[in-house]
Amino acid sequence: MLIEINDIPVVAMDFMNEVHEEDVKIINDLFALVLAYEKEPSEENFNAVTADYQKWITHTVAHFEGEEVKMRELNFPPYPMHKGEHDNALQRMRDVLKHWEEHRDIQALKIYLIEEVPAWLTQHIQTMDTVTAMFFSSGLSPCAAH
Ligand SMILES: [Fe+2]
Ligand SMILES: [Fe+2]
Repeated sequence: MLIEINDIPVVAMDFMNEVHEEDVKIINDLFALVLAYEKEPSEENFNAVTADYQKWITHTVAHFEGEEVKMRELNFPPYPMHKGEHDNALQRMRDVLKHWEEHRDIQALKIYLIEEVPAWLTQHIQTMDTVTAMFFSSGLSPCAAH
Protein backbone atom coordinates (compact mmCIF):
# COMPACT_ATOMS: atom_id res chain seq x y z
CA MET A 1 0.00 0.00 0.00
CA LEU A 2 1.36 3.38 -0.97
CA ILE A 3 -0.90 5.74 0.98
CA GLU A 4 -2.65 5.09 4.27
CA ILE A 5 -6.03 6.79 4.31
CA ASN A 6 -5.35 7.87 7.91
CA ASP A 7 -2.39 9.92 6.69
CA ILE A 8 -4.70 12.07 4.57
CA PRO A 9 -6.00 15.13 6.44
CA VAL A 10 -9.75 15.30 7.02
CA VAL A 11 -11.36 18.55 5.84
CA ALA A 12 -14.60 20.25 6.88
CA MET A 13 -16.65 19.01 3.91
CA ASP A 14 -17.74 15.38 3.65
CA PHE A 15 -18.13 15.41 -0.13
CA MET A 16 -14.44 16.30 -0.39
CA ASN A 17 -13.33 13.65 2.11
CA GLU A 18 -15.26 10.99 0.18
CA VAL A 19 -13.56 11.95 -3.08
CA HIS A 20 -10.14 11.94 -1.39
CA GLU A 21 -10.80 8.47 -0.04
CA GLU A 22 -11.70 7.21 -3.53
CA ASP A 23 -8.57 8.88 -4.88
CA VAL A 24 -6.33 7.11 -2.34
CA LYS A 25 -7.93 3.79 -3.24
CA ILE A 26 -7.30 4.30 -6.97
CA ILE A 27 -3.68 5.34 -6.34
CA ASN A 28 -3.06 2.29 -4.15
CA ASP A 29 -4.60 0.00 -6.77
CA LEU A 30 -2.48 1.62 -9.45
CA PHE A 31 0.65 1.17 -7.36
CA ALA A 32 -0.09 -2.55 -6.94
CA LEU A 33 -0.42 -2.86 -10.74
CA VAL A 34 2.87 -0.99 -11.19
CA LEU A 35 4.62 -3.49 -8.91
CA ALA A 36 3.02 -6.36 -10.85
CA TYR A 37 4.35 -4.91 -14.12
CA GLU A 38 7.80 -4.47 -12.60
CA LYS A 39 7.81 -8.15 -11.67
CA GLU A 40 6.41 -9.31 -14.97
CA PRO A 41 6.52 -6.71 -17.78
CA SER A 42 3.90 -8.39 -19.97
CA GLU A 43 1.56 -6.71 -22.43
CA GLU A 44 -1.34 -7.56 -20.17
CA ASN A 45 0.28 -5.91 -17.15
CA PHE A 46 1.20 -2.87 -19.23
CA ASN A 47 -2.41 -2.49 -20.31
CA ALA A 48 -3.65 -2.90 -16.75
CA VAL A 49 -1.36 -0.10 -15.49
CA THR A 50 -2.34 2.19 -18.36
CA ALA A 51 -6.08 1.59 -17.93
CA ASP A 52 -5.92 2.22 -14.20
CA TYR A 53 -3.85 5.35 -14.70
CA GLN A 54 -6.46 6.65 -17.15
CA LYS A 55 -9.15 5.89 -14.60
CA TRP A 56 -7.16 7.89 -12.04
CA ILE A 57 -6.99 10.88 -14.44
CA THR A 58 -10.75 10.72 -15.08
CA HIS A 59 -11.41 10.60 -11.35
CA THR A 60 -9.00 13.47 -10.72
CA VAL A 61 -10.64 15.67 -13.36
CA ALA A 62 -13.99 15.14 -11.58
CA HIS A 63 -12.37 15.57 -8.14
CA PHE A 64 -10.85 18.94 -9.06
CA GLU A 65 -13.91 20.07 -11.03
CA GLY A 66 -16.18 19.33 -8.04
CA GLU A 67 -14.15 21.66 -5.84
CA GLU A 68 -13.76 24.31 -8.53
CA VAL A 69 -17.48 24.51 -9.35
CA LYS A 70 -18.31 25.13 -5.72
CA MET A 71 -15.53 27.69 -5.35
CA ARG A 72 -16.90 29.59 -8.34
CA GLU A 73 -20.47 29.39 -7.03
CA LEU A 74 -19.42 30.88 -3.71
CA ASN A 75 -16.90 33.35 -5.16
CA PHE A 76 -14.04 31.92 -3.15
CA PRO A 77 -11.39 34.66 -3.31
CA PRO A 78 -8.23 32.48 -3.60
CA TYR A 79 -9.87 30.44 -6.39
CA PRO A 80 -7.09 31.08 -8.95
CA MET A 81 -4.45 29.83 -6.53
CA HIS A 82 -6.32 26.62 -5.74
CA LYS A 83 -7.21 26.06 -9.41
CA GLY A 84 -3.57 26.68 -10.36
CA GLU A 85 -2.41 23.82 -8.12
CA HIS A 86 -5.04 21.55 -9.68
CA ASP A 87 -4.03 22.47 -13.22
CA ASN A 88 -0.33 21.90 -12.54
CA ALA A 89 -0.96 18.55 -10.87
CA LEU A 90 -3.16 17.35 -13.76
CA GLN A 91 -0.61 18.46 -16.32
CA ARG A 92 2.10 16.56 -14.47
CA MET A 93 -0.13 13.46 -14.30
CA ARG A 94 -0.73 13.61 -18.05
CA ASP A 95 2.97 14.14 -18.82
CA VAL A 96 3.91 11.11 -16.71
CA LEU A 97 1.27 8.99 -18.49
CA LYS A 98 2.59 10.07 -21.88
CA HIS A 99 6.15 9.15 -20.86
CA TRP A 100 4.91 5.79 -19.57
CA GLU A 101 2.97 5.01 -22.78
CA GLU A 102 5.87 5.99 -25.01
CA HIS A 103 8.74 4.40 -23.09
CA ARG A 104 7.20 1.89 -20.66
CA ASP A 105 9.60 3.37 -18.13
CA ILE A 106 8.47 1.61 -14.99
CA GLN A 107 11.16 3.20 -12.82
CA ALA A 108 10.09 6.74 -13.69
CA LEU A 109 6.47 5.86 -12.99
CA LYS A 110 7.34 4.21 -9.69
CA ILE A 111 9.46 7.15 -8.55
CA TYR A 112 6.65 9.57 -9.46
CA LEU A 113 4.13 7.55 -7.48
CA ILE A 114 6.37 7.09 -4.46
CA GLU A 115 8.13 10.42 -4.27
CA GLU A 116 5.70 12.94 -5.70
CA VAL A 117 2.10 11.84 -5.46
CA PRO A 118 1.64 11.16 -1.72
CA ALA A 119 3.56 14.30 -0.76
CA TRP A 120 1.60 16.44 -3.22
CA LEU A 121 -1.76 15.06 -2.17
CA THR A 122 -1.09 15.48 1.55
CA GLN A 123 0.30 18.97 1.09
CA HIS A 124 -2.55 20.08 -1.17
CA ILE A 125 -5.27 18.75 1.13
CA GLN A 126 -3.57 20.18 4.21
CA THR A 127 -3.43 23.66 2.70
CA MET A 128 -5.74 24.45 -0.26
CA ASP A 129 -8.50 21.92 0.43
CA THR A 130 -8.53 22.54 4.19
CA VAL A 131 -8.94 26.29 3.82
CA THR A 132 -11.44 25.88 0.98
CA ALA A 133 -13.56 23.36 2.92
CA MET A 134 -13.58 25.70 5.90
CA PHE A 135 -14.85 28.47 3.65
CA PHE A 136 -17.52 26.18 2.15
CA SER A 137 -18.77 25.08 5.56
CA SER A 138 -18.75 28.48 7.25
CA GLY A 139 -19.17 30.85 4.34
CA LEU A 140 -16.27 32.81 5.78
CA SER A 141 -13.10 33.55 3.91
CA PRO A 142 -9.93 32.80 5.89
CA CYS A 143 -8.66 36.20 4.73
CA ALA A 144 -11.69 38.17 5.91
CA ALA A 145 -10.84 38.96 9.51
CA HIS A 146 -13.30 41.84 9.55
FE1 LIG B 1 -9.34 17.76 -3.12
FE1 LIG C 1 -8.15 20.86 -4.28
